[in-house]
Amino acid sequence: MVVLIRKRIRPAQQQQRRLLVIAGIFSLVALSMLGISIAYLYTPRRITPCGLVGSHLCVDSKYPPPTPPYRTYSDEEVASFAVTKDILSQPRTFTGGTPKIAFMFLTPGPLPFEFVWEAFFKGHEGQYTVYVHASERDSLRNMWRSRVFQGRDIPSGKVYWGTIEMIDAERRLLSRALLDLNNQVFVLLSDTCVPLRDFNYVYNSLINSSFSFVDNFDDPGPHGLGRYIEEKMVPEVQPYEWRKGAQWFAIHRRHAILLASDYLYYQKFRDHCRIGEENHNCYPDEHYVQTYLHMVDPGGLSNWTVTHVDWSEGGWHPRSYGEKDVTVDLLRHLQSIDEHVHVTSDAAATVTTVPCLWEGVHRPCFLFARKFLPETAEVLADWYPSEENRDNTSTAASEIENSYRSNCPQRLQLTEEDCKDSTRNKVVSSQFPFPFRS
Ligand SMILES: *[C@@H]1O[C@H](CO)[C@@H](O)[C@H](O)[C@H]1NC(C)=O
Ligand SMILES: *[C@@H]1O[C@H](CO)[C@@H](O)[C@H](O)[C@H]1NC(C)=O
Ligand SMILES: *[C@@H]1O[C@H](CO)[C@@H](O)[C@H](O)[C@H]1NC(C)=O
Repeated sequence: MVVLIRKRIRPAQQQQRRLLVIAGIFSLVALSMLGISIAYLYTPRRITPCGLVGSHLCVDSKYPPPTPPYRTYSDEEVASFAVTKDILSQPRTFTGGTPKIAFMFLTPGPLPFEFVWEAFFKGHEGQYTVYVHASERDSLRNMWRSRVFQGRDIPSGKVYWGTIEMIDAERRLLSRALLDLNNQVFVLLSDTCVPLRDFNYVYNSLINSSFSFVDNFDDPGPHGLGRYIEEKMVPEVQPYEWRKGAQWFAIHRRHAILLASDYLYYQKFRDHCRIGEENHNCYPDEHYVQTYLHMVDPGGLSNWTVTHVDWSEGGWHPRSYGEKDVTVDLLRHLQSIDEHVHVTSDAAATVTTVPCLWEGVHRPCFLFARKFLPETAEVLADWYPSEENRDNTSTAASEIENSYRSNCPQRLQLTEEDCKDSTRNKVVSSQFPFPFRS
């Protein structure tokens, strides 16, 4: 039929049609060129990454949106937006078997609470994976007594207090843990951390949460925005994007991938967020993860951490819990806290208190707590039934304390004077190497 109809069309008519088609194509091309030029001329040049990934809550009303002249994005930024957008748009449903939580320990050496953790994990094989970044591994022989930790060390690097090496160690842990496709949640823990809940509670709380738990807030004071050096951080990181928060996170796989693969923003922090007066005493561990994840996915974060620490005494370091502090009442109290507090570091010291919501339900905030001194290991082990654990714990704890004391200046990067003061030494040594500074 088609062939027949074509045959009936006369040559003159055919010529006319061809011309019409060509004219049509030309006008379409012209129109779309015009459209593209208009779009090009009138599109604001500055689109934040979170704008690109579809968040509406990106720009804090406190800061005005950036003013013209708009800038052109670098190739690296556009590539980063594209990758970020793609990763964040992946569905979160996981179909590969039992989802696991990666427990990533960032520690100088042995864990004082090795047996507390062992008891915590017992019976949950297949639901967790342990990774240890022991930055001073070489100096400590026969480190692990518990099978949970044996063979779980990852190749580690030096971690110097307050430097980018801390972030490097976190990224090293994340990359290793990402290799296991069943790891869906990634929890960063220190050697002074202890669990506040049993495994099932922690697992259920984290696996099904729609948020990554990353502490961050907008602190206009000297320990927040005061550490931001505008001429160094722009254009990639704008002042209204700067965030501050505690280091200890529990994040989803997609955020772990972003952190492990980001180079663009990482290198800004590596080069321009440094300790020392001339650098405004910027600590990468309190700003990089917080600012970066807040930039790319503000709606995906809880903005508070599941790891408790007590700042109520003020000062430069949070409170450390010693043997006498650790009572059932203390642990019950820590378990019951259901609001999260942020205090700005400016003169106003503005306090913001938010209720901890888990999928919309107001529940206690904390799954872990930190700054427990090694001396508390024995007491804590009492809450875990096995006698054998108890004995091994006390041996391990005293060995660790001795090793801290005997190598004080080298291990703790302290002056000789600090080391001589034994009370102080004890507190500082247990805080080494990752204190959360105010
Ligand atoms: C405790 O230590 C003993 C001897 O050092 C060892 O045989 C035992 O396996 C350890 N217990 C655990 C739970 O690892
Ligand atoms: C997570 O949610 C799914 C679907 O609602 C449910 O089947 C599963 O039991 C939950 N898992 C946990 C660990 O709570
Ligand atoms: C965390 O803060 C961002 C903005 O800073 C907001 O978009 C997000 O909804 C907050 N998260 C929660 C769980 O409230």
